Amino acid sequence: MANQSSSYPILCASFNQDNSCFVIGTRDGFQIFDSNTGKLLYERAVGAFIIVEMLFSTSLLAIVGAGEQPSLSPRRLALFNTTTGTALRELNFLTSVVAVRLNRKRLVVVLQDRTYIYDVNTVGILDTIDTVPNPKGICAFSPSSDGCFLALPASTTKGTVLVYNVMELHSHCEIDAHRSPLAAIVLSSNGMFIATASEHGTIIRVHLVSDASKSYSFRRGTYSSTIFSLSFGPSLQLPDILAASSSSGSVHVFSPGIAVNQRSKRSNSFLGAVLPDSVNDVLDPAHHIVLHDATPAGVKSYAVIRKVDKDPKTSASEFTACRAIISIITFNGYFQEYNLSINEQNEASWSLEREFNLLMVKSMP
Ligand SMILES: *[C@@H]1O[C@H](CO)[C@@H](O)[C@H](O)[C@H]1NC(C)=O
Ligand SMILES: *[C@@H]1O[C@H](CO)[C@@H](O)[C@H](O)[C@H]1NC(C)=O
Repeated sequence: MANQSSSYPILCASFNQDNSCFVIGTRDGFQIFDSNTGKLLYERAVGAFIIVEMLFSTSLLAIVGAGEQPSLSPRRLALFNTTTGTALRELNFLTSVVAVRLNRKRLVVVLQDRTYIYDVNTVGILDTIDTVPNPKGICAFSPSSDGCFLALPASTTKGTVLVYNVMELHSHCEIDAHRSPLAAIVLSSNGMFIATASEHGTIIRVHLVSDASKSYSFRRGTYSSTIFSLSFGPSLQLPDILAASSSSGSVHVFSPGIAVNQRSKRSNSFLGAVLPDSVNDVLDPAHHIVLHDATPAGVKSYAVIRKVDKDPKTSASEFTACRAIISIITFNGYFQEYNLSINEQNEASWSLEREFNLLMVKSMP
């Protein structure tokens, strides 16, 4: 998540592919933290960075400067080795890099109206996608090599998404998700589901990527607000929960898992038979849990579902109770972590586990 003309101390924040670490970019440099302990693992203070992306917990980072120092151009992507502290490769572009994603095979570089796909090992270019203007770098990427998709806006007037197959290098489908332009998109880590929000921010939709059909629509609220981030829980099959952070300061959690379980109870059919529900635009209004005033209203935030533990008594296809860990980075400098428990009666409770100022964390001596 990058923010171009930001007055916040945090310019970008990103979790790695398995959520074990996260990295922030500031006006001074970038810092990598361990998600479980909050410990500072690495820092480099050489100037302002607008994009910093990790490759799992390896020594490889993809970094882009914020343009505040002449040597840190927003048009240059560096592949950086944290062990040696040097750039392995540099790629220069004609316009600013607005987003970068990577996995062990691919490097995706999103520019304002073009996206490049590279082989991450040879840094050889594999494909170029011309896109509609995307100055905010809205994109989603599923890092799994079996379902490795890239999602990008396909319209500037409507909420249409292009889903691209990054391993096989072809367009997979286009999804008409919303009537207004997209504000946020996320893919589940295995590429099975995509969640979208438009600039209105009132409805969040979940589509099945395989056949572009709609599975769920959730109402976040009645009044418009900017959705800053969307995150799926890390489960492999049906995502249990989906979190959204917004300019209202609330964090919203939706549970497609519960919705499916109840729909399948209603229709007394198997899980597969209730998916997808593309014909009627039914809202799934229950199963919506709100953490009010999680972040200061209007301040950009990034909420991630780091872990989900299901009650071991229930089978994989059945949703009854779960516990989730939700981490929130607020761009004014704070990290918060909540435990969310949902019981069999579908009642939720939040507890704040940790909260600290990211800008005050000192490295180990
Ligand atoms: C970074 O440098 C270390 C030490 O030379 C090396 O072992 C490691 O493979 C390098 N990482 C990458 C991603 O090239
Ligand atoms: C929060 O969740 C973690 C991991 O599941 C657990 O170790 C911890 O005890 C939980 N805290 C509370 C208050 O339940």
